[in-house]
Amino acid sequence: MPAPEFLVLDPMEVADLELLACGAYRPLAGFMGRGDYESVLENWRLEAGDLWALPVTLSVDAETARRLSPGEVLALRDREGVERGEIRVREVFPRDVRREALAVFGTENVRHPGVKVLTAQGRWLVSGSVSVKRPPPGIPSASRRGLPEETREEFRRRGWKSVAGFQTRNPLHAGHEYLLRKALERVDGVLLHPTVGPTKEDDVPVEERWRSYEDFVKNRFPSDRIVLSAYPQAMRYAGPREAVHHALARKNYGCTHFIVGRDHAGTGDFYAPEAAREAVRRFEKELGIVPLFFGEVFRCRDCGRVVMEGECPHPGSSLEKISGTRLRRSAGFPV
Ligand code: ADX
Repeated sequence: MPAPEFLVLDPMEVADLELLACGAYRPLAGFMGRGDYESVLENWRLEAGDLWALPVTLSVDAETARRLSPGEVLALRDREGVERGEIRVREVFPRDVRREALAVFGTENVRHPGVKVLTAQGRWLVSGSVSVKRPPPGIPSASRRGLPEETREEFRRRGWKSVAGFQTRNPLHAGHEYLLRKALERVDGVLLHPTVGPTKEDDVPVEERWRSYEDFVKNRFPSDRIVLSAYPQAMRYAGPREAVHHALARKNYGCTHFIVGRDHAGTGDFYAPEAAREAVRRFEKELGIVPLFFGEVFRCRDCGRVVMEGECPHPGSSLEKISGTRLRRSAGFPV
């Protein structure tokens, strides 16, 4: 059977292609081969030993896999048929979806949004080095994403020696603001770095939440101490593993510190609130970026302040949760 002329990437793979090609996933330069894939699942490491928490893979179905051979160069298209880049095929190998789900997400429950995406993907993986075409005009958010070299240059221009990266997939709320202000006590500036890649259906669409970021930078925070830039990763909702992944990627964007709060990159009650922090702490010495850990931030019903436990005189029963989930619910988004 003839080789296919192109492969079709799902939205997560398109996002990873862009991140691979711009250096956000260094030392990774292409979709993973079997050695790296197995090693990441088993040991949270690339085969060469570097810390790495999430598989970064390109999937195909069995029929396509049969038609591929190492050395071939194939176009990569998104689902709309737009050419996004190229891959030089190195390996084609099967994946065990159940094993991957358990290793990465700690569950095979398809109600978990990451497991849902994984389950819909092909059962074979294609590795190889990649190149990208510039995102065509009209691809949402393309203009506001700063490449790693651009954020690094911006930090240099501002004379910042230390920068804390802040990941979010939600509109900014008072809990986020608290973390950002606390981080400023430790660093020269912060990188507000919201995920603009695919998120689950009931998350607030990026076009809507972007306004909250712009408003925050313009009207609520010292603008000489914050940079806003888009981070085009697809959320996995992999909690502990994704927290480590987020930290490693932000190092490549020039951050020296990274904020990890309550239930980072979590969803529903799949992970304990401190699980992501524990994972990051476990690898703290070799991350190459300093984690800034925070416990849960609340709003106190008695004094109206935004506080962590013990920061106001009122009892725990007065502390009201602040979260993106609650915010979505109050904004009429389904939860
Ligand atoms: S995430 O999926 O991108 O992690 P979210 O945008 O809600 O979700 O969180 C961004 C960052 O803020 C994460 O580090 C998260 O742990 C932290 N965070 C969010 N809400 C709180 C809160 N109420 N208390 C402490 N940390 C929080």
